[in-house]
Amino acid sequence: MHIKKAVFPAAGFGTRFLPATKAIPKEMLPLVDKPLIQYAVEEAKLSGLEEIIIVTGMGKTAIEDHFDTSFELEILLKERGKKELLKMMEEVSGLVHFAYTRQKKPLGLGHAIGITKNLINDEPFAVFLGDDIIDAKVPAMKQMLDVYARHKSSVLAVQRVARSQAHKYGMIKGEKVGPRVWRVTDLVEKPKLNPPSDLAIIGRYILTPGIFSALERTTPGSGGEIQLTDALKTLAKDEEIYAYEFEGRRYDAGDKLGFIQANISFALKRPELKKELKRFLKSLKL
Ligand code: G1P
Repeated sequence: MHIKKAVFPAAGFGTRFLPATKAIPKEMLPLVDKPLIQYAVEEAKLSGLEEIIIVTGMGKTAIEDHFDTSFELEILLKERGKKELLKMMEEVSGLVHFAYTRQKKPLGLGHAIGITKNLINDEPFAVFLGDDIIDAKVPAMKQMLDVYARHKSSVLAVQRVARSQAHKYGMIKGEKVGPRVWRVTDLVEKPKLNPPSDLAIIGRYILTPGIFSALERTTPGSGGEIQLTDALKTLAKDEEIYAYEFEGRRYDAGDKLGFIQANISFALKRPELKKELKRFLKSLKL
């Protein structure tokens, strides 16, 4: 079945970036000159997805404004002959079709996915966690859609991490079935001790609609929240789930250090910034 829809949970408070995120959604923090969330939206578009459902909450209207047309701004740019900027603005608002729904209480990632049930309509769909920025030749979601096309089952993006870092992730256990592909046999969200492997879930998922009934049966887990990983563990009893180690470099832009690393490495890719930035970094003599 052709996958058209993507869910973007974006209702979190962004406490790791306070005070910057007191009045601005963390999804709008700039990575060079584009808000964080736009990177994953562009990845969705490049992967052929057509409709993005953003799960927002209180104080997140800047996200809707960003992906909307800005009539006044476009008129101004037209009047001033700023063609390049105008084109850029039109590209942002014309990216894909957007729909918004609100998570009224911060009950966790699983809960945020659960409330999109009526918008998804019993189809397989993609999920993007915008904090995970993946720099890849072939967009990570496109790579995953190829795996989905072969297995017709849920697919989780995974990456190897040091075992000492496992407590930050959903960790899987799997049986290798092909290059970079595992059949998932167990999952655990943020294990404090003894992770089942070194394969960590990264914020890209393709989910079958079976996840919704699994979510309905899921009680609060790690951090007192309804965890997607716990629902996937339930789903794995009824359906096969696959994990795919994507090709590309991932930045955890939801973390200060990862955010700074992403900014430096994306800026170094910009022809207009590269030379001066390199010179500056060298001058720091670290
Ligand atoms: C979420 C998921 C976790 C996953 C991670 C990837 O955790 O619950 O399973 O490994 O995203 O970024 P969060 O980082 O939102 O705490």
